[in-house]
Amino acid sequence: MAAVREERRLVTCMFVDVVGSTELTMQFGAERLKRELGAAFAELSRIITEHGGTVEKYIGDAIYALFGAPLAHDDDTLRALRTAEAMREWCVHGQPHGHPFAIRVGIETGEAIVDLEAAASTRQQMSVGAVVNIAARLQQRAEPGEILVGPTAREATAGAADLEQLGAAELKGIGTLPIWKLVRVGGTQIPALPFVGREAEIALLAHAYARANGGRSVLAVVSGPPGQGKTRLVQEFLRERGGGSRVIATRCRPADEVGVFAPLREILGVTTLDALAEQVGRLCTNDVECERVVAGLAESAGIATSRSLARLPTAERVDEIVQAWRRYLGILGQDHLVVLLIDDIHWADSSLVRLVDRLTFGGPRILVLATARPEFAEAAGIRPSGDRFFIELEGLEVGEARQLAALAGRSDERVIARAEGNPLFLVELARATRSDDLPLTLQGALGARLDQLPPTDRTLLSLAAVAGERFTAEDSAFLAQRDVVETGRALVRLADLHFLVVSDMGYRFHHGLVRDVAYGRLLSAERMRAHARFAREHVSPGDIDTLAYHWWEALRPPDAEWVWGSDATLSQMRHAAFAANLAAGKRHAGHAAIDQAVELLERALSFASDDRERADAEQALGVAYRQILRQDESWEHFTRALDLFRAHGAVPVDLYAELMRSAVFTGAFRRLPSVDEVVRIGEDGAAAAKAAGDLRLLSRILESHGAYLLNAHGGQRELGRSFIDAAIEAAESSGDAEARRSALLSKVSLLRGDGRIDESVPLLDEVGRSLEGADALERMDYVMERSGDALTRGDLRDAETRNRDLVALAEPMGPHNRTHAWSFVSDMLIARGDWDAVIELAHRTARLIADEKASAFCRAAASVLRDGAVAHALRSEREEAMALLRAIPTNDVQIDVVAGVPRALLGLNSPETDKEFASRRRTWPEWLDAAFRAVILSRPDAAERTVREMGRMTTSSVLGRAFAEAVHEAVAELRGGPPATYEALRQIGFVGWIEILRRRADAEY
Ligand SMILES: Nc1ncnc2c1ncn2[C@@H]1O[C@H](COP(=O)(O)OP(=O)(O)O)[C@@H](O)[C@H]1O
Ligand SMILES: [Mg+2]
Repeated sequence: MAAVREERRLVTCMFVDVVGSTELTMQFGAERLKRELGAAFAELSRIITEHGGTVEKYIGDAIYALFGAPLAHDDDTLRALRTAEAMREWCVHGQPHGHPFAIRVGIETGEAIVDLEAAASTRQQMSVGAVVNIAARLQQRAEPGEILVGPTAREATAGAADLEQLGAAELKGIGTLPIWKLVRVGGTQIPALPFVGREAEIALLAHAYARANGGRSVLAVVSGPPGQGKTRLVQEFLRERGGGSRVIATRCRPADEVGVFAPLREILGVTTLDALAEQVGRLCTNDVECERVVAGLAESAGIATSRSLARLPTAERVDEIVQAWRRYLGILGQDHLVVLLIDDIHWADSSLVRLVDRLTFGGPRILVLATARPEFAEAAGIRPSGDRFFIELEGLEVGEARQLAALAGRSDERVIARAEGNPLFLVELARATRSDDLPLTLQGALGARLDQLPPTDRTLLSLAAVAGERFTAEDSAFLAQRDVVETGRALVRLADLHFLVVSDMGYRFHHGLVRDVAYGRLLSAERMRAHARFAREHVSPGDIDTLAYHWWEALRPPDAEWVWGSDATLSQMRHAAFAANLAAGKRHAGHAAIDQAVELLERALSFASDDRERADAEQALGVAYRQILRQDESWEHFTRALDLFRAHGAVPVDLYAELMRSAVFTGAFRRLPSVDEVVRIGEDGAAAAKAAGDLRLLSRILESHGAYLLNAHGGQRELGRSFIDAAIEAAESSGDAEARRSALLSKVSLLRGDGRIDESVPLLDEVGRSLEGADALERMDYVMERSGDALTRGDLRDAETRNRDLVALAEPMGPHNRTHAWSFVSDMLIARGDWDAVIELAHRTARLIADEKASAFCRAAASVLRDGAVAHALRSEREEAMALLRAIPTNDVQIDVVAGVPRALLGLNSPETDKEFASRRRTWPEWLDAAFRAVILSRPDAAERTVREMGRMTTSSVLGRAFAEAVHEAVAELRGGPPATYEALRQIGFVGWIEILRRRADAEY
């Protein structure tokens, strides 16, 4: 297997310079000073090692030490600070000769490349990274007795140390950095957040507690991965329910840190035999018994070896020890229940675990409460019994997780998803300043756990992480270049240790963050080569998303330059990377996953090796942006593609068609392209389509051109129509049914916009007859026109039937298309005056918009919200109406126009709206709104003028005629004539409209 000698790791570097005073030099002379310094170095090194650090080397009068390698702890930075504090203390008080040395210390945390072999053996040159230089510079800057701390170390201690800010310092060769001075460790702890959830577990613990209280010997083990909240749970439980008991707590650490005896000594609360004897003597009256108890306790806690016990064979000796503890705890528990809290028992020496097991197997009245990693209980061979409770702690539920994240200050869904319910991860991710980086505290905690593994297993995890969060045994064997069977065995072992979870397709990391840390340990070069090898030799060619990901990771800037250098296969790899990212990007755009699509296509662009490839990527970006109606970006990318293709030779006809299709959505541009530019592209496109003999695309281009002229040029409706007629003709010659239907529907909507309903109906029938082979979207376009047609014929029942089809067609579609259908439904409901339903639909739309942030919404969604606001306004529910207006998406919407009617009903002063209505009334709905507004605002002249300007619209359809009549009646009433009856509207059932026309704004403005 590929031996990984070097790892990228999070480490804390510490430089310590030892300075003797001039006075000292004078008094001691050089030779003695050297000897004293040597002794000081030895002592300081001992302090470093005791705190879990590694002395990497001595440089002149300085010591360079490392925390976090070869073994990481979850609190390495804090350990470094504690070490520095202990050294400073020793310098002041600890020296025999009374002439203190002083130390100058620099500490910083960061990523370094660590040579683990060197670390294990020679201890030469084991770490490289900017962090090393920063720590060295900080040390040079420190005054005697001063401990200077860099910004990352400060962040990693997250309030567990009292640090004084010294401002920004210029460090030679590094730049300006904010630096801090250590005042003392401890102090400004961040208070714990309120406790959330865990009712079921608390109830189980309460049960165990009650059982022990009743006289039994009970063991409860709370297990779970780090950060799952084990310690917090038992603490909260004891705080809430532990009143009346006597709690004795200890915490286990890896043996090399504190020795195997530390927990038992902590439980006893003494460290010498005399103290122990006195303590036991106070409790116990029988001298013989007292002596046996002391001997057993002292032996087990490593306080003293008793000669009488030493003579016994092991089994009997253990018996005696167990008996001593039973007796001791039995006496302690006579008046109160004793709760023995053993945190992190998985670190404990097996002798302690066996002691606990025997102690609670039919022993005295006691509750032993232990927390452990998930793998503990089974591995430790704890025997089950009715007095044993095993509580496996799972992640918080989503609601609880959200609550905790909110308490920690940030509850965005990304944080919640990434934490997977682990409270520690939740809190740390929520508090982290940069949302994408893994907080240092977590890197430390997870890294420490990885370091418990043998190096080969750890490397296997790191390499498997290249495949992703999920992988198969084959994937990881391939990446690690190991035998599959052997790898499979290792993976099972890692699953037993809860680093991995066995899943249906293989394995996945127990937690995504574990994967991130394991992956982060690989050197960039190693990682990039592994991704390339995986993409080239292992991923199936059809799996474009996976390929795109691995090629990106293999070649991503900025490291790619130096990793691959002059590699002969680089251009070949870049080409593969381009193709995979382009294909994956297009696929995502087709599924309306626009953010990913854009990201992938930008990557494709970065891999493109010539203008031709760049143009392809730009075109795909244009399509992606148009999906979410970001027309400015869409247009920009399309025109860039156009320029690139032009420089390259031929422009594909479909690019012209795309450009023209984009140009049509004039309402969605912030900066409209000039009419000349669009018209020229339309003409070039038509010429290119003709030259290529592509009548289908010719039809598309002409149709868009016509629609563009209608939209951009209210005045050029005739010209627009001639383009659409030409499009119909081209489509007919092409024999392409879809192009023909599309052009015909464009014409229908053009005619209806002009109020020429009578002419539109035969065309609509024609489309209806040729729907064979149409897809759902096309059918929807057709049914929408049908529904609109039914409404203008004043046939609400037909509209209802059509709308039912429409909603059924739209139901499986994306959010945007669903709101298209809903806007027709809303039109019908408003006409009927079914206000409850109008409001319901509007709120459903508002929720959809809020939930689907990645989608773009258009005038259709806006009009449903607007209708809801109208309904609320009629009921004088002002706040609700305003809330719906605020929810209107503004990208493709002229809010002043859309909100015209509800604003009038709410009596809002809207000069902007008045201006818009004066300048841009063109189509049927906008005319209607203008007339409604004029009546509501009691402006008879404006109302009369509007209806007059509507021209044919008021004569060519049933609804047009009824509406004109209604407005005329309203105008007469406003001028002091007879009250309006609105009989014509009533006859076709448009009672909702009547209600609106009857309403007058409270005050003229
Ligand atoms: N239910 C909870 N509600 C609020 N905070 C919690 C909860 N569980 C854990 N935490 C917090 O999450 C962090 C990790 O919890 P901890 O008990 O130390 O985990 P473990 O002992 O399992 O490693 C701590 O800061 C703790 O206060
Ligand atoms: Mg804990």
